Amino acid sequence: MNPLIAPSVLASDFANLQAETEMLNRSQADWLHIDIMDGRFVPNISFGFPVLQAIQCYAKKPLDVHLMIVEPELYIEQFRETGAEIITVHYEACTHLHRTVQQIKATGAKAGVALNPHTPVNLLEDIITDLDLVLIMSVNPGFGGQKFIQNTYRRIEKTKELILARGSHALIEIDGGVNQQNAPLLLEKGADVLVAGSFVFTSADPIQTIADLKSVTSV
Ligand code: DX5
Ligand code: ZN
Repeated sequence: MNPLIAPSVLASDFANLQAETEMLNRSQADWLHIDIMDGRFVPNISFGFPVLQAIQCYAKKPLDVHLMIVEPELYIEQFRETGAEIITVHYEACTHLHRTVQQIKATGAKAGVALNPHTPVNLLEDIITDLDLVLIMSVNPGFGGQKFIQNTYRRIEKTKELILARGSHALIEIDGGVNQQNAPLLLEKGADVLVAGSFVFTSADPIQTIADLKSVTSV
């Protein structure tokens, strides 16, 4: 099965956000991946509601919002109102993760949980059947353009095992350092959704690069 492709807007040209969003509309991208960073959960600040609103004005595809923020429960409803169709919070940022996941679902959005590279996958054992998405960080969150962490393959396998064992419908999304080279093995291990930022936006022809990623099959 071909993957869902979620280009990360973080790597786009912010001075031309309308054109970038319209380019993604024309492409084979399935979702637009939106990275929200607060300078507290991660050592970087990306953008907030006004910029997301500008993207929402032009976007014709689901907004896949990845919250790299502390206390995400304070902002779930506002992200939903600003067009988020998938809302992903970090395991490491949520003391009451079950409550926060239910809060996301109550807004009508799909609920995802993201794991940093060091967080054991089996910590999701008792929440996996509540989730629509597991986001496996394949770099440490905070910046685009980082090197893919090889241990990610093992983590995808374990996540897939957990999903199958518990009868969960959660999709597996991989975020960080994804490119045409590692995509086939990511799919082979069980990835469903590929996020790609710099690989798409630094390429000469982003529409073609997205099409190439979309046509990847497992090794
Ligand atoms: C990193 C973000 C990623 C990032 C991916 O913290 O969550 O979504 O934009 O960018 P690339 O594909 O360049 O690693
Ligand atoms: Zn992300």
